[in-house]
Amino acid sequence: MPVTEQYYLRQNVQVEPLVDQWYAWPHLVPPATTARNITHRHFKIMDSYISAPQIHANAVKNPKMLGGPFIDYNGKRVDEVRELRDRTKRERAPLVELSEAIDALDSMLRSSARGSSLHPLYEKIPSALRGYVELVYDLNNHASFRLIEPLLYRSHYYDPSKQSIMLSTITNDERPFVLSTPRLESEDAVDLRLSFGDPAVDDLFRLKSTPSSWSEIKDMLLVADARDALLKSFLTPEPPPRYLPYLGPGVRWRYFGHACILIESQGTSMLFDPVLSYTYENGISRYTYLDLPDTIDYVLITHDHQDHILFETLLQIRHKVKNIVVPRNNGGKLQDPSLKLLFQNCGFRNVIEIDELEEIQDGNVRISGLPFFGEHADLDIKTKMAWLVRIGPHSLMFAADSCNIEPRMYEHLHREFGDVDALFLGMECNGAPLSWLYGPLLTQKLERAMDESRRLSGSNFEQGMHMINTFHCREAYVYAMGQEPWLNYIMSVKYTEQSRPIVESNRLIEACKTRGIIAERLFGEKEILLETQSVGKARASEVCVA
Ligand SMILES: [Fe+2]
Ligand SMILES: [Fe+2]
Repeated sequence: MPVTEQYYLRQNVQVEPLVDQWYAWPHLVPPATTARNITHRHFKIMDSYISAPQIHANAVKNPKMLGGPFIDYNGKRVDEVRELRDRTKRERAPLVELSEAIDALDSMLRSSARGSSLHPLYEKIPSALRGYVELVYDLNNHASFRLIEPLLYRSHYYDPSKQSIMLSTITNDERPFVLSTPRLESEDAVDLRLSFGDPAVDDLFRLKSTPSSWSEIKDMLLVADARDALLKSFLTPEPPPRYLPYLGPGVRWRYFGHACILIESQGTSMLFDPVLSYTYENGISRYTYLDLPDTIDYVLITHDHQDHILFETLLQIRHKVKNIVVPRNNGGKLQDPSLKLLFQNCGFRNVIEIDELEEIQDGNVRISGLPFFGEHADLDIKTKMAWLVRIGPHSLMFAADSCNIEPRMYEHLHREFGDVDALFLGMECNGAPLSWLYGPLLTQKLERAMDESRRLSGSNFEQGMHMINTFHCREAYVYAMGQEPWLNYIMSVKYTEQSRPIVESNRLIEACKTRGIIAERLFGEKEILLETQSVGKARASEVCVA
């Protein structure tokens, strides 16, 4: 009998998870934030493009407008954008109604909730939200509402059929900014009508390491025959090189770019804030999907920003992930959707929620959740966690974009946890204003001065040094700076030597070095082995630097 040819998914097949043809980021899954983004981001951008496409075309070319609300189709494809807007209005009518109900509820509470019982106001809740919200006061009689998110996910407001996964080929780091431009169909892309939670998503990405026959792949993906040639171009009979897990002594960590770090120690693996480059010929050396173990014991998420929760990577690795660890929250705040519910509804099993100062113990690995202040424009958001990892004698703190606005907090943590060998800290200290990310959720106009003062800013030089001093760190790594060119499509940052995050982090690195602390701003790739010595404290040894 002839052997049927077996195919792998190529390592440079780009995966764009979409919701209503918009690039999926974490606020496009929970029903309430999706509703607000459809009405107050997508419709606004599409309306503006339809009426003045050339203004968008010019703005996209202006580097100062990077990341702004402009559609990047060079002033073309207006009819398709109009068709998408009209279709979304039709097919997402329940979410449009939900978004309007949130406006109406806020306005009703502002005018009617004056400190007396809220019970009579339940009948004034807009019908689209009745039964999905509890009305509450804070201790100073400011009224607000709590969304019952699990019910919203089980209602007609959550429609996974609007999710899809678009495949195309990527050959270099150039990729347009994706958060302001809907992804329209194109000749060189296949839009798979798969919701994120569909088990076929795992089957698809298993093809990156385990082959299948053409007929099995075709049955799995249900792609029209006319697209066979394109789909075949995404496949290869060539097996990928096999990954060799680190089984040596001590601990090995590898930096994959931005806040993505893999730790391996005696068979246990942890991956922080996964964001991966694809594998293709390029100028900057990097780790990619090929450098991940077959099984990842823990994926750990620091916070709910699009550069730390990237579905594009997470869906590709889901079949490898044993546990996904997230900060605990379920307060029902519009601006703070539950990550547990979000991941469960996207097909992740084994979601572990960790509260501040709770920990996971696995063999000689201890992972503790630490409070993460700031970087969220002073909004009441609990989905933020720094992670302290202790393995044998080693301790590493992954603080991501934590902003040290209250040094006393770290002094309390030091009393509890003691010294930390290595600190990983983001220093994007010139963050975007509140409205850039959270604007669609606001139901009242925000004064410009307020917006400018409330930013998504991480730690500066003084704040970072205070952390290093408090924990007596012997190594300090600035990371999560969005500098890797393969992440420009979600980051919209372009630094120069004069940019404040670069100036401040340079100062921190210099200050550390003068005091004998190993310090570096990570870029591209890096590998460090932490060896366990029989006597005394362990020692870091550098293996290679990009
Ligand atoms: Fe952030
Ligand atoms: Fe970040």
